[in-house]
Amino acid sequence: MTEPCFGMSKHRVTVDNKRIINNDRTVDCNQLVPIKYKWAWNFYLDGCANHWMPTEVSMQRDIEQWRDRNGFTDEERHVIKRVMGFFATAETLVGNNLVLAVYRCVDNPECRQYLLRQAFEEAIHVHAFQYIVQSLSLDEGEMFNMYREVEQIYNKDQHAMSCTSSVLEMNPSDLKTREGLQTFIKNLVGLYVITEGIFFYGGFVTMLSFGRQNRMPGTCEQIQYILRDESIHMNFGIELINAIVDENPQVWTEDFKNKIIEFIKSAVKLEGAYIKECLPNGILGLNVELITEYIQYLADRRFERLRLPQFYGSSNPFPWMSEIIDLKKEKNFFETRVTEYQTGGALEW
Ligand SMILES: [Fe+2]
Ligand SMILES: [Fe+2]
Repeated sequence: MTEPCFGMSKHRVTVDNKRIINNDRTVDCNQLVPIKYKWAWNFYLDGCANHWMPTEVSMQRDIEQWRDRNGFTDEERHVIKRVMGFFATAETLVGNNLVLAVYRCVDNPECRQYLLRQAFEEAIHVHAFQYIVQSLSLDEGEMFNMYREVEQIYNKDQHAMSCTSSVLEMNPSDLKTREGLQTFIKNLVGLYVITEGIFFYGGFVTMLSFGRQNRMPGTCEQIQYILRDESIHMNFGIELINAIVDENPQVWTEDFKNKIIEFIKSAVKLEGAYIKECLPNGILGLNVELITEYIQYLADRRFERLRLPQFYGSSNPFPWMSEIIDLKKEKNFFETRVTEYQTGGALEW
């Protein structure tokens, strides 16, 4: 979107001139400092403090449990494979959207610093699902084609990415029009709010329910790290959307707000259809109704953060999920190892 701009100039960047998008020639997109958006820089620091690698997690017990004929019922195997199949390509779709569409449009250096960190985390998540699929000897063709072959997964991905190709085809001037900017914001909602903030959670809650029974501990440990990363991604994305709206209030029309509300409500329906296909009869304390209630509860939280009216009024049927998201210092939930992973320096959680 913005060319890597620099040239001879006697003018230095002033913090007040910086914007999230559509920066003019008074702002050099190669200069991180002076930092204007401290929240973006802090998200970058938080992401770095959470570094982890999939291969550090042992999959031995998962392999033993998966090989045991009596380890899982057919329905349990079905839902685990569906969750892996969804994530196997969803993480790549997110990474591509981020690097090819979002990064071009957001030309503020602080935000780009976080986007680069997030892009690396998406690569780690792709690696995690490849590692799980390989460790359990799941059929790679089945897992990595599921987004093309299972209608409910295809519909979710299509819905979230419905604006991505328009953003990819944009010219720099398009982002200066109200319609162009609305298309870009809708793509951000599809990525950060719908994919990372709604569609991922059906899979998170399902797998972590197995983890609570000490089943698939290695897979679930990785899901916990991914959940922690994703909750930072989504929080960054919502800050980003709100900051763009604040700087460009002309985009936030009643009509556009209604479109965003409908976009999110349709996503809740699609997640419901996916869960129904995954868990037609329910398993281990999980069923379609409970997960639907949870997804509706999450959607209301997302509406609230986007300063939109809440719609569902559902309560949280899985309070333990909040505990996992907030789990910082305690010994591992699944009794394998300490779940906080911090490199060198320390973050005060
Ligand atoms: Fe991810
Ligand atoms: Fe993510």
